[in-house]
Amino acid sequence: MTTLFADQYRHKTVLLTGHTGFKGSWLAYWLHQLGARVVGFSLPAPTQPSHWHLMQLPITHLTGNINDLGSLQAAFAAQQPDLVIHMAAQALVRPSYQNPLDTIQTNIIGTANVLDCVRQTASVRGVVVVTSDKCYENPEDGRPLTETDAMGGYDPYSMSKGAAELVTSSYRNSFFNPAQYGRSHQTLVASVRAGNVIGGGDWAVDRLIPDLIRGSVSGQRVVIRNPEAVRPWQHVLEPLSGYLLVGQQLLLGNQQAATGWNFGPDSADVLSVRAVVDQAKTRWSQIGIDEQPSDNNPHEAHLLRLNCDKAHQLLNWQPVWTTQAAIGRTIDWYRAYYEQNQLRTEADLRAYVQQAQAAQLIWTR
Ligand SMILES: NC(=O)c1ccc[n+]([C@@H]2O[C@H](COP(=O)([O-])OP(=O)(O)OC[C@H]3O[C@@H](n4cnc5c(N)ncnc54)[C@H](O)[C@@H]3O)[C@@H](O)[C@H]2O)c1
Repeated sequence: MTTLFADQYRHKTVLLTGHTGFKGSWLAYWLHQLGARVVGFSLPAPTQPSHWHLMQLPITHLTGNINDLGSLQAAFAAQQPDLVIHMAAQALVRPSYQNPLDTIQTNIIGTANVLDCVRQTASVRGVVVVTSDKCYENPEDGRPLTETDAMGGYDPYSMSKGAAELVTSSYRNSFFNPAQYGRSHQTLVASVRAGNVIGGGDWAVDRLIPDLIRGSVSGQRVVIRNPEAVRPWQHVLEPLSGYLLVGQQLLLGNQQAATGWNFGPDSADVLSVRAVVDQAKTRWSQIGIDEQPSDNNPHEAHLLRLNCDKAHQLLNWQPVWTTQAAIGRTIDWYRAYYEQNQLRTEADLRAYVQQAQAAQLIWTR
């Protein structure tokens, strides 16, 4: 696995915010496998159990708040990262309705804090800011959203991700302009936008798969409020491979990579919530749901599709697993955890990488 990214990550110091979360813990593991010196900077794991605690990764683990500029500056100064991957966020839509200011503070000002630390840390060659497919103004007209579409966001979470994109592009234009790269600065800044990800080890509240798993292990039926909602589901390893490809290009000094990138499933591979549940049930029959569509739910976009042509053409990135395969892998991960006390993270990563290599889907250029 170490040669996949042309050894670009070996011995590089990667400062990863949000490493105690769902996506961050998978990425910390993958980076560690690639030989990077991983420094995580995050609040404690947001769930119990947590993939982060289960994995027991031998990385540098710093507990800190991205809203505390002083402790963030101290971490940057002490660790001198080559690459920064910024994932820490209030990552859920519903809590953003309950406490919008907290979401705004962490997702917008927190992102500005990270970028300002980069401004003061000469070692940093690349920054990957993780936002979301929800960063876009979404007219819900069925057209897949492209990287040049306007930023927006109906609910506070989506707006905070659109605003984090604007913060990122402003810092890129003002302080890390690709046209000045190698002259007035040495840092390339990109942002990455992915949709709903699934995979083992997510116990967040109010996400479909973790809700189904919780219901399944406690013998309770799960209320589904938006069965018709169509989303671009993908395994967590899919966007992470894209983030790693972008990070690699930044480390190589490719100025074209210092831009926004979409990472989503193939356009035909989007499923409704109901279809995801049906497929999950074929892997674990004890999953049970009650559909209760309601007009009183907070607004959620019903149709969200990403156009990923740019990543296909310029990064040679392609999804490796269909949504169906991703659902199967995910449910199998939880079954192995609950029924055999086993973690399938290593097996999933190995299978993903082998399949990507066999199909020459990623890392061939
Ligand atoms: N999971 C998804 O489906 C999905 C989809 C699109 C985008 N994203 C984005 O990907 C990133 C990771 O998402 P996730 O699903 O792993 O979320 P998560 O909630 O599992 O993890 C969030 C991480 O951020 C940390 N964090 C939160 N507030 C912090 C603060 N103030 N200071 C320091 N650390 C803080 C948490 O401790 C945790 O490590 C987020 O930026 C999220 O918005 C996630």
